[in-house]
Amino acid sequence: MLSLKGGVGKTSVTLGLAGAAAAQHLRCVVVDLDPQANATTVLSPGEVMFTANDVLAGDHAVSISDALAVSGWGEPVSVLAGEPALERRNHPPDGVPGRHHVRTALAGLRDTDLVLLDCPPSLAELTRNALAASDAALVVTEPTAFALAGAQQALDAVDAVRRSHNLRLRPAGIVVNRFRAGSAEHRFRLDELIAAYRELVIDPVLPERSAVSRAQGAGLPVQRWPSPGAREVARIFAGYLGLVMSAAGSGAGPFSKGASR
Ligand SMILES: Nc1ncnc2c1ncn2[C@@H]1O[C@H](COP(=O)(O)OP(=O)(O)OP(=O)(O)O)[C@@H](O)[C@H]1O
Ligand SMILES: [Mg+2]
Repeated sequence: MLSLKGGVGKTSVTLGLAGAAAAQHLRCVVVDLDPQANATTVLSPGEVMFTANDVLAGDHAVSISDALAVSGWGEPVSVLAGEPALERRNHPPDGVPGRHHVRTALAGLRDTDLVLLDCPPSLAELTRNALAASDAALVVTEPTAFALAGAQQALDAVDAVRRSHNLRLRPAGIVVNRFRAGSAEHRFRLDELIAAYRELVIDPVLPERSAVSRAQGAGLPVQRWPSPGAREVARIFAGYLGLVMSAAGSGAGPFSKGASR
């Protein structure tokens, strides 16, 4: 999950996919690459001995299996925790990025069906490292004035890392989040995105529902939140999970080709 802009829903989509995976009994690892560590907070792992920052130190002192913690959501969802110290990895002081640090760390993962990487609001080194390690990249945006420019910057970053470091990487699609069906502005911005990116814009969009933030506040997956809005969003995340799994598995490129709208 990536975007340059903050607060558009990267963490919410990561958590929604993790909850969908858990509901299907898939073994899922959430890698929190954000120094804000919001995903870690919501997933509330019991005991965190080491974080993503330790694993990415590059000296192999801490392996991913040393650092993985079972989430408060239960056994199928594990967390590689984020922490504020990750911030300096976003801007390596010597200017020489180790673009494959995340990929190297993840190579030690066993018995996992899905790895979700939650990126910080930046297209700097941590996000580029995540892209170098991924099979599929989900761009997240809100249907607002800067959505088009923001999506383009994120897709450009995906393309640059694909060409330079990771030919398996595919832009899995653009999630349009916090959509309000009654807003003419949102409809206009969505149409603008569809005109520019066509099948990359994932159908359906993700609506604004208070259940998303309420479940996070309670440290629960939205799939376990008891409201009609939560059930609606959970159904959408189940669909997104299928699309992401097939995009990551097939290497066949944008997955929503031919989707009706
Ligand atoms: N579809 C939604 N409906 C209602 N609230 C939402 C929705 N998506 C996200 N939010 C809320 O919006 C806020 C920002 O979302 P989130 O933390 O997922 O964004 P982010 O892109 O990860 O932010 P950052 O760039 O800071 O990491 C959170 O409080 C979240 O609960
Ligand atoms: Mg976030």
